Amino acid sequence: MSEIPAVAPREDAVETLIDRKALSGRISELGRELGGHYAKAEESPILVGVLKGSAFFLADLIRAMGIDVVVDFMSISAYSAGAQSGVVRIVKDLEEDLTDRDVLIVEDIVDTGLTLNYLRRTLGDRSPRSLQAVTLLDKLARRIVPVDLEYSGFETPDVFVIGYGLDFQGLYRNLPDILAVKDLARLANDPAMLASDLFHNKAPGSILAP
Ligand code: PRP
Repeated sequence: MSEIPAVAPREDAVETLIDRKALSGRISELGRELGGHYAKAEESPILVGVLKGSAFFLADLIRAMGIDVVVDFMSISAYSAGAQSGVVRIVKDLEEDLTDRDVLIVEDIVDTGLTLNYLRRTLGDRSPRSLQAVTLLDKLARRIVPVDLEYSGFETPDVFVIGYGLDFQGLYRNLPDILAVKDLARLANDPAMLASDLFHNKAPGSILAP
């Protein structure tokens, strides 16, 4: 006797927002644009990846740029009491000296703008020759501080997103597509609930490549 599922399929809790083909196409365009821009510079630009989410975007972006680049990473964390205040601490600082270098901050998502605002101020104080920022996703509707953003992949609606670097409680960063979470309350109740559907069931309609 087959079991009748007690609840709707868990895949109903998410939907694809940006699939891998659209990601790849847009990242190639951004890479070409950035590669062309920095090809004119005297020295290789320093790309600053903001851990952890941007590592995935950065890895694909630099391969699309077609020029020499230097990669460094930074990790910052909001003080819990000041999460909305923009008060952050540096968990891991850069190894590179930014003096007189062209610097590009690489973000996976800009939401309130507080993180990028802090990074632009902090890195701007280190005397770079130029300082620009690129983000894969721009959640403009959530901005609480205005921030300069020279390059952006996609403007996204105010929905919770996972995949391609973006996580829910540390999970789902390695999904190849960006998915919108439709039922956040249900996921919060059981953070790993989507894992078996998204990673293990290769049924028709699965978001994973065969
Ligand atoms: C995300 C993203 C940005 C920040 C943007 O990082 O990578 O750094 O949030 O949000 P804001 O515009 O509201 O400041 P997150 O704190 O989720 O860390 P993670 O990349 O390690 O998941």
